[in-house]
Amino acid sequence: MQQVMRVGIIGGGLMGREAASAFGRWFVLDKFPVRAELTAVCDLQDTLLEWFRQVPTVKRLTKDHRELLADPNVDVVYVAVPHNLHQAIYLDVLKAGKDLLAEKPFGMDLAAARAIRQAAAASGRFVRCSSEFPFLPGAQRVIELARSGTLGHLLEIRSCFWHASDLDPTKPVNWKRQVKFCGEIGVMGDLGMHVVHVPLRLGWQPARVYAQLQKIYTERPDGKGGMAPCDTWDNAMLHCDVPVNGRDVPMRLEMKRLAPGATNTWWVEVLGTDGGARYSTAEPKSLWVFERKKEQRWTRIDLGFQTPFPTITGGIFEPGFPDCFLQMWAAYAAERAGALGERFGCVTPDEAVRSHELFAAALQSHATKTAVAL
Ligand SMILES: NC(=O)c1ccc[n+]([C@@H]2O[C@H](COP(=O)([O-])OP(=O)(O)OC[C@H]3O[C@@H](n4cnc5c(N)ncnc54)[C@H](O)[C@@H]3O)[C@@H](O)[C@H]2O)c1
Repeated sequence: MQQVMRVGIIGGGLMGREAASAFGRWFVLDKFPVRAELTAVCDLQDTLLEWFRQVPTVKRLTKDHRELLADPNVDVVYVAVPHNLHQAIYLDVLKAGKDLLAEKPFGMDLAAARAIRQAAAASGRFVRCSSEFPFLPGAQRVIELARSGTLGHLLEIRSCFWHASDLDPTKPVNWKRQVKFCGEIGVMGDLGMHVVHVPLRLGWQPARVYAQLQKIYTERPDGKGGMAPCDTWDNAMLHCDVPVNGRDVPMRLEMKRLAPGATNTWWVEVLGTDGGARYSTAEPKSLWVFERKKEQRWTRIDLGFQTPFPTITGGIFEPGFPDCFLQMWAAYAAERAGALGERFGCVTPDEAVRSHELFAAALQSHATKTAVAL
């Protein structure tokens, strides 16, 4: 019999509604041990609460997150609010005795991330952080190859997340472009968890980092006819040394809001002396695999829908963002139910704290123009 996981959402904006859509399509999962049901939503905006009325399982709509947390019909809380609110609301969730899927960056800075990790450990609740792209079939294949031991000596690793819409200086400001809401780490807080999840899980822990951070537009239209400060880092390139088998391997992590032509392009590349792999959401069906045989070759493999958790979707169909987001939720639900097995799991509180340690070191590196040890 399927176990039921009753979910409450705090923050029903872009990601809160994406989560609702994942639960609404949960039946796509084939013979899955857990059924997810959205029961309660909290947001401050009437129009968003109104939107959630179309979800038949939602019984509580509120503007007070404490009311949602007091609801006995909520087992797990998904929190998707601006970064300056992460720590206070995540701690309230844990205090209320609920499990948590926290949105990244898991607190607005390193101190917040450490406080959340400590509260999570003390509470004994099941806590994970959001990062969905590794659940795409192409990403899974790169992970599998990296773990296979067939790549020879590791030469280099790149993990990147690129956006381009901020190239338009007339794009209005929002909370993600202001330090007071997004945090001093700027684009690293916004896109960083996505680029560190796979490397950290594969054991590629940076020993030192040299960071190049860029801030290009310092103000943007405020949407009311004036201009507002836009003071976050736009682009971050982190050049890391990663010790692997007694050698330092160069790893470049790129987080960019100003990447010409890219819309939500997440990509990863691992190169070794005997083999390599590359996958990008820009070509969601294409896995590129390098082999050094008598001749050297890059081969493009046309992938299908081989997601970590089987679905009723045709095996030759192509996956996208809503699919990997649903698969991430399936990983959360499966791990919470003790049914993850050998599959790739969501970001742990430890990994989230390590990402913040890296980003704090990156800020220091950029300020001092030196490589900073971790
Ligand atoms: N996993 C991903 O791919 C992904 C993508 C985008 C954003 N995010 C993360 O999700 C989180 C939210 O980002 P978003 O893009 O959904 O932002 P958003 O601005 O679209 O939504 C945030 C919502 O929080 C609500 N809110 C603010 N204060 C609140 C409070 N006290 N109680 C209840 N609701 C409150 C706002 O009204 C808004 O609707 C951030 O941590 C962000 O980094 C993750």
